[in-house]
Amino acid sequence: MRADIVVLPGDGIGPEVTAAAVATLEAVGRRFGHDVRFQSRLIGGAAIDAEGDALSDATLDACRKADAILLGAVGGPRWADSEIRPEQGLLRLRKELGLYANLRPVRTHPVALTASPIKPHLLVGVDFIVVRELTGGVYFGARTRTDADASDRCEYSVVEIERVVRKACALARARRKYVVSVDKANVLETSRLWRQVATRIARDEFPDVRMEHQLVDSMAMHLLAKPREYDVIVTENMFGDILTDEASMLAGSMGLLPSASLGEARHDPGHSSPTRRIGLYEPIHGSAPDIAGRGLANPCGAILSAAMLLRHSLGLDGEARWVEKAVAEALDHGALTADLAPAGGGIGTEAMTRAVLARIEIEHQAIELRD
Ligand SMILES: NC(=O)c1ccc[n+]([C@@H]2O[C@H](COP(=O)([O-])OP(=O)(O)OC[C@H]3O[C@@H](n4cnc5c(N)ncnc54)[C@H](O)[C@@H]3O)[C@@H](O)[C@H]2O)c1
Repeated sequence: MRADIVVLPGDGIGPEVTAAAVATLEAVGRRFGHDVRFQSRLIGGAAIDAEGDALSDATLDACRKADAILLGAVGGPRWADSEIRPEQGLLRLRKELGLYANLRPVRTHPVALTASPIKPHLLVGVDFIVVRELTGGVYFGARTRTDADASDRCEYSVVEIERVVRKACALARARRKYVVSVDKANVLETSRLWRQVATRIARDEFPDVRMEHQLVDSMAMHLLAKPREYDVIVTENMFGDILTDEASMLAGSMGLLPSASLGEARHDPGHSSPTRRIGLYEPIHGSAPDIAGRGLANPCGAILSAAMLLRHSLGLDGEARWVEKAVAEALDHGALTADLAPAGGGIGTEAMTRAVLARIEIEHQAIELRD
């Protein structure tokens, strides 16, 4: 198949980890006979410096036309006092493309058992996915600021809640059929609406899926105390942002976790793939200014984001599983970046990428031999 990908490396370690994701997609393209084409563009601080805006109209237009977008990370201390903030580019991109559902899978790998600060017996077999609402809530509400006070408005509509809860329930259907909806319904009006709508969607449209509700404060505790119990967690924008950073400690490092931001499938008769599900794929970590430019970043979150791109935007589930297996095997074989090597040492970004690519080659040769 032919796929056009816009690559937005961004700032800090963004360019280092997206290079690894691109190399992975190129390897998959070569191995499986797909014509994957890349177009690199600026976003965030890099775009502010070069183009005077965190996301230019031309870049947004290129993203609209693409099959998928691969992003590194945006931001950093250099733009802390900038009038235009790097994050504005990313928020605009998500909003303009209608990417309302952010999927963040959390799976533990045996090597993470030592890298995580959580007791190993709690971590074995953890495998859940957080579905975070991405284009509503307090991050997009009106804000005010005077010398005396400030406010950030949090709003959710029924439609915004329905569509993301539907996505979570549909995902659960293909897994263990269990959804925990997280809110703060004992205090917030938006959360009371969230709970009411989530209950209705699960009851009326997904009777085979079990839904439970959990307050966000106790969820923060349960996530560390009994992470194995969870299957799909659905929640609003800010709660999801915080809970998934917390969840990254289960996996051992921020550098391991991927994400996919999805909207509705679009029908575009003029396009080479007429029904497209455009998505934005990025590791959950930020630009990590403390290690940027030193070749130390763990590229696995970005590589696993490329796997999600193959699955969700290109419909190539087999190839996606191939990449996920390659990452797991590279880790099994002792390829560990510094964030996963608490005793010290660890390999760099490029060596880790080579270790994953080598596993893709080895697996492919094994299949050819079997055939
Ligand atoms: N989606 C995004 O682009 C995004 C997300 C979060 C933060 N940010 C921005 O990133 C900047 C830094 O934010 P932060 O320090 O709070 O979060 P961060 O995720 O960049 O870093 C947190 C810690 O994790 C480490 N880390 C992160 N990714 C890693 C990787 N791949 N390999 C090894 N270690 C890794 C960092 O070195 C740091 O110690 C800020 O400007 C923030 O606004 C951007």
